Amino acid sequence: MNLEFTEEQIMIQQSARDYAQRELKKDVIERDEHSIFPAEHIKKLAELGFLGMLVNTKYGGSGMDTISYVLAIEEISKVDASVGVIISVNNSLVAYELEEFGTEEQKQKYLVPLAKGEKLGAFLLSEPEAGSDATSQHTQAIDMGDHYLMNGTKNWITNGGSAQTYIVIAQTDASKGHKGINAFIVDRDSKGITIGPHENKMGMRSSDTHSVMFNDVIVPKENRLGEDGWGFKIAMKTLEGGRIGIAAQALGLASGALELAINYAKVRKAFGTEIINHQGIAFKLADMATEIEAARFLCLKAAWLKDNNKPYGTESAMAKLFAAEMAMKATTEAVQIHGGYGYVKEYHVERLMRDAKLTQIYEGTSEIQKIIIARALSAK
Ligand code: CAA
Repeated sequence: MNLEFTEEQIMIQQSARDYAQRELKKDVIERDEHSIFPAEHIKKLAELGFLGMLVNTKYGGSGMDTISYVLAIEEISKVDASVGVIISVNNSLVAYELEEFGTEEQKQKYLVPLAKGEKLGAFLLSEPEAGSDATSQHTQAIDMGDHYLMNGTKNWITNGGSAQTYIVIAQTDASKGHKGINAFIVDRDSKGITIGPHENKMGMRSSDTHSVMFNDVIVPKENRLGEDGWGFKIAMKTLEGGRIGIAAQALGLASGALELAINYAKVRKAFGTEIINHQGIAFKLADMATEIEAARFLCLKAAWLKDNNKPYGTESAMAKLFAAEMAMKATTEAVQIHGGYGYVKEYHVERLMRDAKLTQIYEGTSEIQKIIIARALSAK
């Protein structure tokens, strides 16, 4: 693994940093406070190629590697992690799935507009009673001969209200367990789909999260992804890459918090000196910086493995587990370093702390990552 970035990777990192610092920062507090979906920013980021970063250029993507993806998501999430997750879901949970498992026809019809950012995608796996236990799907897609008939409810869907293209995981034959699960491409505008209200969340407030209800929705036969019964494995494989995106997002939240904490500690005075000169504060910063660097290496290792076509499921679980736990700790310390100022919105760190909490939960909780890692260890 080469620890030096290529010129192209540095350029992509710089481009994401420039956009985040110049454009996203301006109205991030307002978006968070009023749960405003960043539609204009997503449009501009699409023009810069970030919505289809990982997609091959022949399908309208930017053809970037996963290392560049980590660098870009980190820079964006330093400023606005909600934008980070919108990009991450579109790239790694939806575009990836279509590119990896779709037919040529499906790719032309659904992947190209997603990669160009003309449309947005959402991944519908979680249900009211199926979060961590992803095989116990209740949403059904019954084979009616010339189409599937879909009924059920999906919960906590990132991009649920703004996406036009859904990948829906549903049970087609309950008697077959996980082998009776399939993945379907569903147009959001299909008759019978109802979108629940925007969830009023603790953090990641400008990414829109909804429940989605399916009532006798007709899904064309040609919209199934992969062979019959592949759906669960497709979802699991997809989440392996998704977790690199969430790990990078957690990394961004933590490194954003560290920058703010250092800047504050350099100017805030107490007991006759800037607080960075007090060991109690300096040691917190030292711990944060060290753990951020460790998380960065885990993210880059998982990305490198993926780029080099090596197995990366365990490493992406490790990256997500470590980065999410570290981000929660680092952002909490950043609030502590800011004292009372850290508790008000203008200083940004309270938002980073609220946002960090979700990285321990979505795309598999920290406990689920430990299950994945532990199972890999026992299989050795
Ligand atoms: N790749 C390919 N196949 C896989 C796989 C992977 N990574 N992981 C498991 N499988 C296969 C297994 O090999 C097995 O197949 P066989 O029976 O043929 O051997 C099958 O899938 C079932 O696997 P398990 O027995 O391991 O299944 P399990 O019920 O024990 O669950 C789990 C495993 C890891 C806990 C899984 O359920 C899981 O990851 N749960 C968390 C789900 C999750 O991350 N949800 C997040 C929602 S998405 C989201 O948050 C998106 C958003 O909007 C931001």
